[in-house]
Order: sequence, then structure tokens, then C-alpha cells
Amino acid sequence: MTTTRVLQQVLRGQPTSDGAGVHLVRLFGPGRYALLDPFLLFDAFGSSDPDDYLAGFPDHPHRGFETVTYMLAGAMEHRDSAGNAGLLEAGSVQWMTAGRGIVHSEMPRQHEGRMAGFQLWVNLPAAHKMDPPRYQDIPPDAVPEVALADGVTVKVLAGEVDGTPGPVRGIVTDPTYLDFTLPSGAAASFPLPPGHHAFVHVFEGRIAIGPPADERALAVDQVGVLSVGDDQHGVRLVAGDDPARVLLIAARPLGEPVAHWGPFVMNTRDEIDQAIADYRAGRLVD
Ligand code: FE2
Repeated sequence: MTTTRVLQQVLRGQPTSDGAGVHLVRLFGPGRYALLDPFLLFDAFGSSDPDDYLAGFPDHPHRGFETVTYMLAGAMEHRDSAGNAGLLEAGSVQWMTAGRGIVHSEMPRQHEGRMAGFQLWVNLPAAHKMDPPRYQDIPPDAVPEVALADGVTVKVLAGEVDGTPGPVRGIVTDPTYLDFTLPSGAAASFPLPPGHHAFVHVFEGRIAIGPPADERALAVDQVGVLSVGDDQHGVRLVAGDDPARVLLIAARPLGEPVAHWGPFVMNTRDEIDQAIADYRAGRLVD
């Protein structure tokens, strides 16, 4: 017998800009860390106006955490200072473990048309913050799609649904990253690891979350934080009158102190100062 998680809190995104002036919606930032550990930040970008995205994200550093880019439309080119490069096209996911440091750019590979996707920041525990950088570049056709009851389908980027694992592997926080498509009125129920922090983001339609006796609504462009407890395993999503697209993201919390400054996420202020010094001295990367 599993009990179903309830929708505990609704977060509303704030329009902002980042990189060299890319317009995006910050669905949550590091200020929510106590609620969402190990998730630090979650941005949605989506526009058909090239002025909103053409500036891209020129060279910038990261240390101490992971960035996850999931593309819905358009194409972004990724390059780093070690010579790694990759094309992120619609349906692909890049799970980048910055570890002890990378300097990279993420630039649009298009001059017109729609560009849309998400970037998630996932913290690393102290024991892995200084690991060597690692990339998992997953093309669209390597992301399995699982059919559930009621015509619901789910793309499994990370974690597991009905015995089908996602292609992203070996991540220390044991994450789940699922992209659901629900026909109007359809319901999906599935297990989630107990104790993992979890949130839901609706990017098309409207859904209700929770057990039948305690359904709570979540609208488009919102993030719903799910309850967490050792006896709470299941998640239940129900689409409204229109079809819905929903991300469900979960991972094991770290429970460690966080010191955050710009693109560096460490445990202490001294470690942040070291990261800044290393970057200025050109020692962030090999
Ligand atoms: Fe980046």
C-alpha cells in the first residue's frame, strides 16, 4: 500500500534575463533550496522572437554542481574550454556535471523560429564537488517513451518508469526526470522513491495533483512542490479539460550547507572565494 503525495506548495515563475540577455522565466531560484534540496534553480525559456534568445550564453564558468538542459524546440550549440562540443536539438537532454570546473558557452544554432526548453541546476554533495567534469549528451532517439494507462505517455530522461530506465546514468542524487503527455481528463499514477524531494511543472494545459480525496490544481507556468515523507511513495496526476504536458523531477536531498555565488555552488564561503580565485587565475579548468 502506498500513500500518495499531495501538492504542498505552488511557486510562480518570474520573468528575467540571463546570459547575454536571453529572456526566460525563473521558475525557482536558490532562495527555495530548503524546500527543494538538491535543486537550486529551474528556468524555462521559450520564444519565437529571435531577439529573446539570439544573445545566448557566451563563455561562463561553473563549479560544484550540475546543469541539465532539456530542449523542446530549436537548437543550441554547446562548447567548453576543454574542446568538448555538442548540438542540443529538440528532444535532447544534456546532463553536465561541472564538478571542479568548466568554462562553457551555450549559443543558439538558429536565427529564426521557436527556441524552447528548460535548464535545471542540481547540487553536488561535498564529496563530489571537485570531481572531474562529465557530460552526458543524450540525443532525442535515446530517450525512451513509456505508454501508461488512459493514453498517457512519458519520456524517461532519468530514473525509471515501469522497469524502463532513462539514459542519464550514474548521477549521485539518483534523479528522476520525466516528461508526461496526458490526454484531456487522463490520470497517471506511478511510484517515486520515498524521501526524494519532488516537483511538477505544467507547461501545457492544467492538472490536478494528489489522491482523489485531496486533489489540488496546478496551472501552466507554475511549479508544484510535492509533499515528502517516508510513507509517501506515489504520485497521481490528472489532466484537466485540455491535454497537458508536465515535467516531474525528483532527487535525493543532500542536507548539506550551501554557499552560492553566481555560477559557483559550494559548502562554505571559503570554498567560494577559492573558486573565484581559481577562475581569475585561469585554474578553474585544467
Ligand atoms: Fe552554463
